[in-house]
Amino acid sequence: MERRAGIAIACLAFLAVAAVSSAEGETASTHGKLVYEQYCVTCHGVEGKGDGPAGVDLLPMPRDFSVGRFKFDADSDGHTGTDEDLFLVIRDGGAAVGGNPLMAPWGHLGDDTIRDLVAYIRSLGPATTK
Ligand code: HEC
Repeated sequence: MERRAGIAIACLAFLAVAAVSSAEGETASTHGKLVYEQYCVTCHGVEGKGDGPAGVDLLPMPRDFSVGRFKFDADSDGHTGTDEDLFLVIRDGGAAVGGNPLMAPWGHLGDDTIRDLVAYIRSLGPATTK
């Protein structure tokens, strides 16, 4: 009986180590993908085309990430769609830049996760914007 408990504990310890090392091995874009699939896919769609079930009827529509063109110049540097712009729109939401308030602010996810989301959104775009 005791031996079994020992084996069970060893197995749990192994699983814990495996879970931690796989989290460390993730690239920014892989982590971004996981978060995207959890929170963003309903509107932006699996391939980022803005055609998720909750996105198709919205006006303005969710951005089509596969095109790689973005609307907002959130940091007012004269260029739309820079990494910083995407970061700010995701963090502060559409309303903060005069856009659709249904693009909610996601600041609670934390800066690192938002950067991973930006990396993943880039990976959905055309090759030149990757
Ligand atoms: C409820 C639907 C909805 C969800 C969920 C949603 N979005 Fe959006 N998103 C929108 C809409 C609508 C727009 C277009 C806003 C506009 O043009 O006014 C948008 C626009 C954007 C843009 C474009 C900014 C630009 O300058 O063109 C980015 C980037 C973005 N969303 C990222 C995300 C990320 C990342 C998530 C998940 C954390 C997310 N969105 C979740 C609806 C949504």
